[in-house]
Amino acid sequence: LSIDNVVVVSNRQPYRHRYEQNGDGDGSRAERSIAVDRPTGGLTAGLDPVMQKLNGTWIAWGDGEADRDATSEDGQVSVPPEEPEYTLQRLWLTDKEIDGYYYGYSNRALWPLCHLAMGRTVFDGEQWRTYRRVNQKFAEKVVDNVDDDTVVWFQDYHLACAPRTVRLQSSSSPFLLHFWHIPWPSIDAFRACPQHQEILKGLLGNDLIGFHVTQYCRNFLECAARLVEETEVDYDRGLIRHDGHETAVSAFPMGVEADSIEQLSEAADESAWQSFKHRHAIGPNTRVVLGVDRLDYTKGIPERLEALEHLWNTQPEWQGQFTYVQKGTESRSEIPAYQRLQNRVDEIIDRVNSRFGTDEWQPIVLVDENLPRKTLCGLYRYSDAAIVSPLRDGMNLVAQEYIASQVDDDGVLILSELAGSHEALGDAVLSVNPYDTEAHAKAIDQALTMPAAERRNRTRRLRRRVHNNDLSSWLNDVFEGAQQLREEQEAKS
Ligand code: G6P
Repeated sequence: LSIDNVVVVSNRQPYRHRYEQNGDGDGSRAERSIAVDRPTGGLTAGLDPVMQKLNGTWIAWGDGEADRDATSEDGQVSVPPEEPEYTLQRLWLTDKEIDGYYYGYSNRALWPLCHLAMGRTVFDGEQWRTYRRVNQKFAEKVVDNVDDDTVVWFQDYHLACAPRTVRLQSSSSPFLLHFWHIPWPSIDAFRACPQHQEILKGLLGNDLIGFHVTQYCRNFLECAARLVEETEVDYDRGLIRHDGHETAVSAFPMGVEADSIEQLSEAADESAWQSFKHRHAIGPNTRVVLGVDRLDYTKGIPERLEALEHLWNTQPEWQGQFTYVQKGTESRSEIPAYQRLQNRVDEIIDRVNSRFGTDEWQPIVLVDENLPRKTLCGLYRYSDAAIVSPLRDGMNLVAQEYIASQVDDDGVLILSELAGSHEALGDAVLSVNPYDTEAHAKAIDQALTMPAAERRNRTRRLRRRVHNNDLSSWLNDVFEGAQQLREEQEAKS
């Protein structure tokens, strides 16, 4: 990489400190030590090795119980702990700030808005002001850590206002890059947000904004053109000029660490899989269809369970033949919409299990235990099919992880047309519209009856795509995009 001075800014931190009890102590300070939790997946895990090479700074909210104790007075800690390579700069938020910024505006306004869940949006003035104030806090930390050579890399929808603040408040001119990991909605939806002007202006403080797919870029360009005054937009080149500054908008579809997933999957042996099935009372010859999701209403879990119910109801020959395993990770549970979703999932599972279940066979198994990566890759490898059926999703990396794990070339992926990853994987998956229960049920039937030669053929094509567009190639593309733009800016000035 030609970029060597990077400051990453994200809501989630790559390392979190917690207290660990030593012996049978009574919890007093002397008897506990501090342990560190490693990043487990997604972006933090992917960027951590890059930061280890670049030795930069990572600014994030310290949300671990022992974070303050593990950090210097100004919030810095060198990571990874055993062989420090870069600085994690934490910032501290009060409970009120966390409520307004994280549980509030980020996840009750922007998240549902961008996922077109308009009925779930809450645009609360107080939460918005807290969001803006917390963005200001992040921006101040950035300003303290940059000079003219720095590339600042903002992550996601928690930080929409920070770029403009950095641009206005920094005495140096760092390059500002932002990756928006969730969809950008069409103007019809986005204009409903009462704060649309400020959100857009905040983001237009960046030099480059990346999205997963071109449609989100087009939506963003149109929102900027029509909702922000005095803006010139070049749709063909993906450029927005506003307030004397130019922002480029470009698609960089994110990938997964395909090689390491493949290795983990290779290493996952079949006996571990059989004992997993045994633990969950799944018969040794019962086939398995898998779903792996954060318990989020955008993931289409109730819709998927209803498609399964429809299949077992209309084609009873499938009863007893396969179990659907839902690995569900609890998420953002303080938000009522998430609590309702979790209750709804539990209710449907109970209903389906009592409707069709027998002494020997449970149709749906919900797994909420924390699975080590290798176990998860084993699940991907040995299950017969996987369903990834979000109602809307920026990209969806589970779909790609599932493909990367198919070392035996025999899995079948059922993928929602409404996920960003559908654009990359498209024609070789079984596509579903998650709102279409009957078609969804038919796709599950098709997945389970697909001839081996066709499965192999599709999987090989998909694996090639996932390997060619893996996480490191994504990082390279993003950094190359930034580098090129920076050179163009320098040539102009
Ligand atoms: C999505 C977002 C990420 C976020 C993740 C987990 O993938 O794009 O920014 O980190 O969900 O959600 P959480 O609220 O737990 O960080």
